[in-house]
Amino acid sequence: MVLNRGISFGISTIYLATAVRDNGGGIVVGTEIVHDKVVQARKNITEAGLETYVDIREGDALETLKTFNQTVDLVLIDGWTHLALDVLKIINPLIRIGGIVVSDNVNTFKDGLKSYVEFLQNPANGYRTSTLNFKGGTEFSVKVAFIWLRLRTIL
Ligand SMILES: C[S@@+](CC[C@H](N)C(=O)[O-])C[C@H]1O[C@@H](n2cnc3c(N)ncnc32)[C@H](O)[C@@H]1O
Repeated sequence: MVLNRGISFGISTIYLATAVRDNGGGIVVGTEIVHDKVVQARKNITEAGLETYVDIREGDALETLKTFNQTVDLVLIDGWTHLALDVLKIINPLIRIGGIVVSDNVNTFKDGLKSYVEFLQNPANGYRTSTLNFKGGTEFSVKVAFIWLRLRTIL
């Protein structure tokens, strides 16, 4: 299962859903707060023939993701910077070990994403992470441990 936080008009969702389809199936869950963008994204995704691989949740990701309960393999964080850490914390328990979080524009929005990147860089939070030198900076993070495992070790 792939989670795309902020689908806009569906461009990255189309790429993700194509990869999911070509690798044997699965689902891309996308959130988007702007209704007109949701309408256009649905149109674009349907035109690409990928609608069976996409679940669009319209509304504020902080709300629409609260009821979300599927195991997550890959997350794309590409949206309003001040919400990135809150969104990650909501879905964090659902990201599997070996799951990947890809975050766009971490250098472009260095200040806005500071606490978010620091969360991923702190090994205590269960990730190993690296900033890739793509345009704007892409944080590529792999989950290596659940926090509760660390707590159990300490206790
Ligand atoms: C940079 S765009 C995403 C682009 C998309 N990943 C792509 O490449 O096609 C960020 C999107 O996040 C949406 N957004 C902003 N705040 C949001 C929120 N609280 N919940 C859901 N979506 C939100 C915006 O409306 C915008 O369309």
